[in-house]
Amino acid sequence: MKFFIDTANLAQIRDAHDMGVLDGVTTNPSLMAKEGITGKDNILKHYVDICNITDGDVSAEVIATTFDEMVAEGEELASLHQRIVVKLPMIKDGVKAAKYFSERGIKTNVTLVFSAGQALLAAKAGATYVSPFIGRLDDISTDGLQLIEDIRLIYDNYGYETEILAASVRHTMHIVNCAKLGADVITGPLSAIESLLKHPLTDNGLAQFLADHAKAAATATV
Ligand code: E4P
Repeated sequence: MKFFIDTANLAQIRDAHDMGVLDGVTTNPSLMAKEGITGKDNILKHYVDICNITDGDVSAEVIATTFDEMVAEGEELASLHQRIVVKLPMIKDGVKAAKYFSERGIKTNVTLVFSAGQALLAAKAGATYVSPFIGRLDDISTDGLQLIEDIRLIYDNYGYETEILAASVRHTMHIVNCAKLGADVITGPLSAIESLLKHPLTDNGLAQFLADHAKAAATATV
């Protein structure tokens, strides 16, 4: 399973990259705004900065909501760097644009997906990635993981190659359960990825090993 980080924060992207587990980055307009990145030139430059840190795909979301505008904006984004993936909203024109880009060999990520039917449309349009938002479904008392299971079943039934990019991941058990259900990719904050490291038995075990080593070394020098 691939790990993408869901942020526009360059320091966090570098941190995840340096850990050696980063396969790509997803951003969205809210995440760009959170980092204070505004104005077209700054936004485009920021995408290039992100591409220069990671070796993986970088999703850059269009602001446009009509087909013609999405095509123009997506082409400009795709021309920035070979690793840019054009992120399109799950609306009718977004599906049309996904088809347009897939026919031209430009990678796409269809975002804001909350149902299996929407995921089926994204696959039929030839999207590279589909992004079901599991955390936001959980927020409204709907089982986000069930959606991952349903999409996996549908895609496997027909051999769709669209990768399931579980998005809106909030914590470690989202990641572990997405892996069990066969999601191709997860995207989440650095904190969720780093929390996978934690286990008290690891910490206690390491402390014991180091203490025993120090004791033995002290005895040997007496
Ligand atoms: C996906 O690509 C989105 O950027 C993201 O995962 C949304 O997550 P949130 O629900 O935590 O905002």
